[in-house]
Amino acid sequence: MAELTLPAGSRPKPGKTFKAPVGAKRVKTFKIYRWDPDTGGNPTIDSYEIDLDQCGPMVLDAIIKIKNEVDSTLAFRRSCREGVCGSCSMNIDGTNTLACTKFISEIKGDVKIYPLPHMSVIKDLVPDLTQIFAQYQSIEPWLKNENLPPERERLQTPAERAKLDGLWECILCFSCSTACPSYWWNGDRYLGPAVLLQAYRFIADSRDEATGERLDQLEDPFRLYRCHTIMNCTKTCPKGLNPAKAIAEIKKLMVERR
Ligand code: SF4
Ligand code: FES
Repeated sequence: MAELTLPAGSRPKPGKTFKAPVGAKRVKTFKIYRWDPDTGGNPTIDSYEIDLDQCGPMVLDAIIKIKNEVDSTLAFRRSCREGVCGSCSMNIDGTNTLACTKFISEIKGDVKIYPLPHMSVIKDLVPDLTQIFAQYQSIEPWLKNENLPPERERLQTPAERAKLDGLWECILCFSCSTACPSYWWNGDRYLGPAVLLQAYRFIADSRDEATGERLDQLEDPFRLYRCHTIMNCTKTCPKGLNPAKAIAEIKKLMVERR
């Protein structure tokens, strides 16, 4: 599979411009990163003028309109359109977020849209998530419990269940990991905030019996300890979660068990 990783500091050049329809009164320009592995060459930024009177309120509405009515070659991911699948994460107006929950009206001037930063690009706004999902798999994101399951369910007290709040809501959009300079520099060995938050989600679960084994797996100078509390993860999370806190909780458990 052809993929593109831009050298540091290089910037895509302006590409095609698609004008708004004649008579459009509320025109907004969407400047979108384009790269096509089939044609090769350097990436460009294409400009699409959209009539906001003929478009839904979200950035994803505009992207879908562009795909359906203006330029069918534009590639991006989306599924649920309501902030629960994590597919439409991208860099909008300089911040990693979900296109389906980002209001166009919140953005002053042109809307600049790039793929999630520091990832290989498969095409246009589609980053290659192969490695990050392999890292997710490496933390074994399922409950481990050797006891036979009870007839109905494994019960938790309200207090035990509350420990999962702020963790279970993660939709694996990877806005946080791709906003993290430590992950940019050491993404091959550092697990990054999204995967570590998921790791803590199982460590914190009273029904899981593999806490020691999970902590052993994370006890590593890179996998966990490349977090330098930069906090970009927490700042950018479109679900309002706090991956930095989850990482801090894991580090605390590491100290406590020594
Ligand atoms: S913690 Fe937030 S930003 Fe990170 S993957 Fe989960 S939902 Fe996305
Ligand atoms: S399309 Fe599912 S989160 Fe945006």
